[in-house]
Amino acid sequence: MVYNFLQDFCSEREIEIRFNEPMSLHTSLRIGGVAEVAVFPQEEDLPALIRLLKSKSISYVIIGGGTNLLILDGGIEGVVVFTKKMNNIIGVEDGNLIVQGGCNLQRVVSMCADIGLSGMEGLAGIPGSIGGAIAGNSGSFGYEIKDNIDFIDVLYPDSAIKRLRKSEIRFSYRSSNLPDDCVILNASFSLKLDEPTRVIKVTKEYLNEKRLKQPLNQFSAGCVFKNPEGLSAGKLIDEAGCKGLRIGGIQVSRLHANFFINVDNGTAEDFLRLMDLVSNKVKEKFNIILEPEIRIIGKS
Ligand code: EPU
Repeated sequence: MVYNFLQDFCSEREIEIRFNEPMSLHTSLRIGGVAEVAVFPQEEDLPALIRLLKSKSISYVIIGGGTNLLILDGGIEGVVVFTKKMNNIIGVEDGNLIVQGGCNLQRVVSMCADIGLSGMEGLAGIPGSIGGAIAGNSGSFGYEIKDNIDFIDVLYPDSAIKRLRKSEIRFSYRSSNLPDDCVILNASFSLKLDEPTRVIKVTKEYLNEKRLKQPLNQFSAGCVFKNPEGLSAGKLIDEAGCKGLRIGGIQVSRLHANFFINVDNGTAEDFLRLMDLVSNKVKEKFNIILEPEIRIIGKS
């Protein structure tokens, strides 16, 4: 088998490896064809793993929480490297918090609230991993994850590990200049010490507000399109009459029009067709071209 070398590497190091892995098991949309190989390494195995894949010219993608992601129905050729096992809280001292990139963002947000660290409250309710949130500069309510970053440790495809201070990273609205094929190993945040009861209260308020406005309990990839400067994509989609529109198993949410929900075994094909339909309607009505916020990968 083509991947014998990888299976040997993984069994030597006790890394979980799966073949023909349905990516729908790993995305918040519950969509995605099969990946040839999925591996779930720990941080210490990553540099050697990436070197090995490079030396064999095997393509790979890095996946964190799978939450801002549409994986096409033809799946992924090559290897998917998951960061979900790199999920330790490395240290908390005074207002400084260091966590691994594969940590779930909401676990970190609630831990900060419980121990009285302020600064993460506005990120309440955003799904995904710390690494994914940093790479895409996730945000809500005027907060962005970049706000409290001190530094991150990044593994590059040539196996170099570099510490990047916040000033060395270019963050912009829902994006950063960190390349797709790098892995965010650790992130350090500078937060403010505060009363846990106060931080918990503020975090809960943000979460409640989000629950009222966004379909957090349904299968989605968060906001599908970026907000055009000074405007809300959700409002434009709503005013173009798209709420409730459905193609196959995917529907425009009636709660927030910039969320597309997988209501009944939807496919990536359904999702893309609905994106086209919605953006055409917005273009017709407002002459505005919506740009996707979600990352789209894989074979159609
Ligand atoms: N609105 C409508 N109809 C809708 C949705 C919204 O009329 O279907 C109106 C609202 O009533 C409000 C305005 O549009 O007057 C703005 O809506 P909202 O406060 O929900 O914010 P948004 O601009 O739609 C942005 C982010 C969200 C983030 C919220 C809260 C983007 C694309 N969206 O949404 O981020 O949670 O603000 O801060 O940046 C994401 O990035 O995945 C995401 C969900």
